[in-house]
Amino acid sequence: MILADFYKLEPKERLVYWQEPDLLKEGLKKILKKERYEHSLSVAGLARDLAVKHHVDPKKAYLAGLLHDVTKYLSEEEAISYLKYYDEDKLEYPKAIWHSYTAYYYLKEHLHLYDQAVLNAIYHHSDGESRAKLAMIIYIADKREPLRKIDDGILDLAFKDLYQGFAALKLDVKEYLAKHGNI
Ligand SMILES: [Fe+2]
Ligand SMILES: [Fe+2]
Repeated sequence: MILADFYKLEPKERLVYWQEPDLLKEGLKKILKKERYEHSLSVAGLARDLAVKHHVDPKKAYLAGLLHDVTKYLSEEEAISYLKYYDEDKLEYPKAIWHSYTAYYYLKEHLHLYDQAVLNAIYHHSDGESRAKLAMIIYIADKREPLRKIDDGILDLAFKDLYQGFAALKLDVKEYLAKHGNI
C-alpha cells in the first residue's frame, strides 16, 4: 500500500500533512523511485514559479506538482481495479496515462485530499484536457521541468502567456505522438 504511514495519522494531523510539503516529501520518497521523486520535486518547483507569475495559488501548484505521479507505481491489477470502480471509460485510454486518473481517486478517497483545483490538475496532467489555470500549469511543468533539459522556447512562452504556452505544448505533444505513435 502506498503512503501507508498516512493511515496512522489522526484526521487533524492529516490536514497538517497537506499543509506541510516536507512531510509529504518524506512519504513520497518511500514510494517513488529516485528519478521519479526528483522529477516530482522539479515539477513542483517549476509549477510554483509559473503559478506566482500567473496569479495562481503557489501552494496549490507545489502540492499538485509533488503529488501528480503519486500512483505511478500501482500494479496494473490495482490500477484496473481503481478504474473499474471509479472511472471505467478510462480503461480505454493508454495504460501509460492511467496513473493520472488513479491518482485523483487515490488522493480523494483514501488520503482525503479534497481540493478540487489540485485534484483536477492531477487528473488532467497527461491528457491536457482541462483549461483551468492550475491544470495548464501542471501539464506544462510536467513536460518542461528542468531535469528534462528541453529548451525549445515553450517554457519561456508559458511564462509570458500561459494560454499560448499551453497551446504550443499541446501541439508539440500531438506532433510527437503522430511521429512516434501513442504512449
Ligand atoms: Fe505522470
Ligand atoms: Fe510526471
